[in-house]
Amino acid sequence: MTASSPFLPLCEPNIQGNEWAYVKECLDTAWVSSVGRFVDKFEQVAADYVGAKYAVAVVNGTAAIHAALVTVGVEPGDEVLCSDLTFVATANAIRHAGAHPVLVDAEEQHWQLDISLLEKFAEERCQPSEQGLRNRNTGRIIRAIVPVHVLGGAVDMSRLNKWASKWNVVVVEDAAEALGADYRGRRVGTMGTMGCFSFNGNKVITCGGGGIIVTDDLKLAERAKHLTTTAKVPGEEYVHTEIGFNYRLPNVLAAIGCAQMELLDQFVDAKRQTAARYREALGSLEGIKLWDAPAEVNATYWLHTIRVDAQRFGCSARQLMAHLANLNIQCRPLWQPMHLSPAHQACDSILNGVSTRLFDECLSIPSSVSLTSSQIDRVTAGIVSCAAEAGGRKAA
Ligand SMILES: Cc1ncc(COP(=O)(O)O)c(C=O)c1O
Repeated sequence: MTASSPFLPLCEPNIQGNEWAYVKECLDTAWVSSVGRFVDKFEQVAADYVGAKYAVAVVNGTAAIHAALVTVGVEPGDEVLCSDLTFVATANAIRHAGAHPVLVDAEEQHWQLDISLLEKFAEERCQPSEQGLRNRNTGRIIRAIVPVHVLGGAVDMSRLNKWASKWNVVVVEDAAEALGADYRGRRVGTMGTMGCFSFNGNKVITCGGGGIIVTDDLKLAERAKHLTTTAKVPGEEYVHTEIGFNYRLPNVLAAIGCAQMELLDQFVDAKRQTAARYREALGSLEGIKLWDAPAEVNATYWLHTIRVDAQRFGCSARQLMAHLANLNIQCRPLWQPMHLSPAHQACDSILNGVSTRLFDECLSIPSSVSLTSSQIDRVTAGIVSCAAEAGGRKAA
């Protein structure tokens, strides 16, 4: 195995079904833009798959979260709690709604939002008021919470929903990374008031770019559709009831999404098999811990991720990443936690140090659904060779 081995990407889309045929239909009929049969079909199929009554397709996952927050009534000046350990889109979407993120750290075990921090926060740093739960530090009302189901796992939604209903805080799930994951037999994204998904190129399935909002509430679904389609009154006249968003998913992208939905179960199976293979090969390697979910979660392993104990492994996660890059294997660290991000470090936060440690110690390794056995072997051999070299250095 050398640097001249072919480049192995972190996570690439898999286009192997009816994508060409459906896109060709769009091009042949010129139904490429903001309405069309594939948009309707995509909404229907996605809603059915997750077990939600309604779905509203939008241009990307960020737009989905933004529109969902406005739909549930988040207003400028409100506060919205969200996971500190997340891709920046979650916190950005809160800012797009004019609200202020309050960043909640992760729990050590499965790296999801730490609900015990929320419980302490409400008791010790907030006070109930007629308008809602008020953050004593900022004086603002906490209107909503956006738990992020990190890496294809799930936040403990029973406990989170209990907390949210006690304090009258609306739950909008960021399930961008977790399409297909189950929590206690229910699909992730269907346990809050609204749930949001992304179909960016690196997700379990892709539209090229795309997103969707799901809900069981007809009024909220209609409002989300209205807001995301420029708040236009149906009909010939250009009448817009308020300042809406042009967040419509083009039919030609929905066509790709429909073809990908047909492959979703197969993709999720492949991810689970790869997780098992990585576990088999790396599970007992000194200093390496593989991310996993608790028993009540059937995870999809969006990105297979390892945690490196530098002392025991012999080198840091960043050094391991450099070693694998030399072997033409692409890896990447977890996201810089939002409380450290120049974009969001001014936000109020509830921290316990976990997300900062995970940022230092974790590495996502190749995760494409098309990963072959020999490619998995290449990755694990690369990690083992790094351990051997680091061990050699330690011994010298
Ligand atoms: C947790 C999370 N939220 C939101 C998004 C945003 O989705 P998009 O890139 O489709 O805007 C992503 C991924 O891209 C994500 O990982």
